[in-house]
Amino acid sequence: MLNFFSKSKYISDYVPTEYTDIHSHIMHNIDDGAKNPEDSALLINTLLEIGTKNIISTPHTSTHIWNNSPEIIVKKREELNNIIPDLLTKSNFKVASEYLLDDSFLTLLENKQVLTYKDNHILVEFSYFNVPLNYQNIFFEIQLNGYQPILAHPERYSYFNNHPEVFEAIRKSGVKLQLNLLSLVGYYGPDVMKMADELLKRNLYDFTGSDLHHKMHCKALHDKIKLKHHSGLSSVMANNYYLLK
Ligand SMILES: [Fe+2]
Repeated sequence: MLNFFSKSKYISDYVPTEYTDIHSHIMHNIDDGAKNPEDSALLINTLLEIGTKNIISTPHTSTHIWNNSPEIIVKKREELNNIIPDLLTKSNFKVASEYLLDDSFLTLLENKQVLTYKDNHILVEFSYFNVPLNYQNIFFEIQLNGYQPILAHPERYSYFNNHPEVFEAIRKSGVKLQLNLLSLVGYYGPDVMKMADELLKRNLYDFTGSDLHHKMHCKALHDKIKLKHHSGLSSVMANNYYLLK
């Protein structure tokens, strides 16, 4: 018998009015995201399809891999605007960046060579491979410099698997946490989904992001939500609007 209360949900079911996606790799040839303007158009259209009203795209900045600067990122937006102006207008397309917490990050910050969201909120990520050394000190330095750190996709750092208390402590130190929407549908595997579920259950997320890079991500964004604790998702997603400048 069909149980009404167990009805499957999709990410689009939770998208609030004026949803602002704050994390994606939509601009072409600037990082490991879109490879050409056609890819960019596909990624933007996918976000519009699920009900997104505003997009703040965030190319990677990391010294040894994606040596981007605010100037390069802003110029790339202008370049894309010359190719698909209607889509950029329709999606109210803005830019920031996703900063890897590497050796050079604090120098960029001290020199104000960073692209932020509203009120100096800044998106940062850990390496996927190594436990970040002294991350508590780095977060403290970010705050001392007048910025509000947002840690991207905490559920994806496998070295902290089964340690949600690490993120509880990080959040207590004033860092905000951003959930990847694709973690809800199990795209990154069961361990990541389990951690996302636990962090949602503990109400630790402040923001969400699609983190779209390519068409496989676009397809998965339409999949059913598989994790259990998604009842508070709409209010977390609604917080994103605050970051729009
Ligand atoms: Fe990302």
